[in-house]
Amino acid sequence: LPIDQSGVWRYRELLPILQDDAHAVTLREGNTPLYDLPRCAKLLGLDFLLAKHQGLNPTGSFKDTGMTAALSVAAERGYQWVACASTGNTSAAMAAYAARAGLRSIVFIPEGKIAWGKLSQSMDYGALTVQLKTDFDGCVKMLAELVRRNPIYLLNSVNPYRLEGQKTPAIEICEQLDWQVPDHVIVPGGNLANGSALGKGFAELKHLGFIHRVPKISVIQAEGANPLFQWFTNAEKMLRPVTADTRATAIRIGNPASWRKAARVIEATGGWCESVSEQEIALAKAQIGAEGIGCEPASAVTLAGAKKLVAAGRIDVGERVVLLLTGHTLKDPEYTIDFHKDLLATGMAEANPYRKPPLVLEAE
Ligand code: F0G
Repeated sequence: LPIDQSGVWRYRELLPILQDDAHAVTLREGNTPLYDLPRCAKLLGLDFLLAKHQGLNPTGSFKDTGMTAALSVAAERGYQWVACASTGNTSAAMAAYAARAGLRSIVFIPEGKIAWGKLSQSMDYGALTVQLKTDFDGCVKMLAELVRRNPIYLLNSVNPYRLEGQKTPAIEICEQLDWQVPDHVIVPGGNLANGSALGKGFAELKHLGFIHRVPKISVIQAEGANPLFQWFTNAEKMLRPVTADTRATAIRIGNPASWRKAARVIEATGGWCESVSEQEIALAKAQIGAEGIGCEPASAVTLAGAKKLVAAGRIDVGERVVLLLTGHTLKDPEYTIDFHKDLLATGMAEANPYRKPPLVLEAE
């Protein structure tokens, strides 16, 4: 069965969401590799540093694990149309799974604020792709109006079935480590669904007796889009939305929907919330690239954040740490090229211990 080849649906006993599992819409997502990062580990002074590469899913991001679940529910319930607001990866995943199921899809994205690779995907998979002159948070508001008035199934991460699918990497990680639970799992934070979903996954495994403790879960945000970090450090009751800006466009989100869930997961597991600068993100991304792995900028916040957590004594050198790499490096090649061009222009090549600037030969 195709669903047996899916890294999500092979855990279907833990995903009681369909009337009939044969209705699952799958592109054989999940089953992603867990790589070691020996050079990055050395840089941080850790013995054990791994990367769970969710960018190796069918549409190049972790969103596929959630989308196979939620799109299957939409299809089983007979919806004709699905929709999401997105910084690019959710829309790429939704468009692909909708196409697979024969449903129509509508994407709202912030104009000029998403990476080309992602924009081209939703077009390629046939979504009605609408660019709005606003940011992600504005797109969410406009879409809420649309789905309120029409029989359209909303596939943003407020959809609970998305989280059911997105919890499965937690199970895969335990399985891949022969059920030796890692000490610390580090995820990027945007709309804050992913950290929540992984927290749910580990908590359920513990509840069912497969594991005896859960890892600390830490969430890392970009400095220009860090409302959870600010909430965490200010000890306020409510999260204050910010006007978001970062070149890690996937996580350019100022008013995250799932902040309460993410905060609860961080606090319950003893993790932390950190914030990293644009330069720290760029350098970390190049260092992950130099492992022969690569990822998109939003994923690189995990390594940048891990460095800070080690420096602050929040990660012990003996800890077994897993970084969640959420997106493929080819999602945003423009970012990478700009970074290496800048190194050349500013003479900053020394900042990156692994890479030389690109070699430019003058013709004649
Ligand atoms: N990493 C990548 C590559 C993402 O695309 C996202 C979110 C995140 C991390 C953050 O995950 O929102 O669950 O905290 N992208 C969404 C989108 C918002 O529309 O593609 P989160």
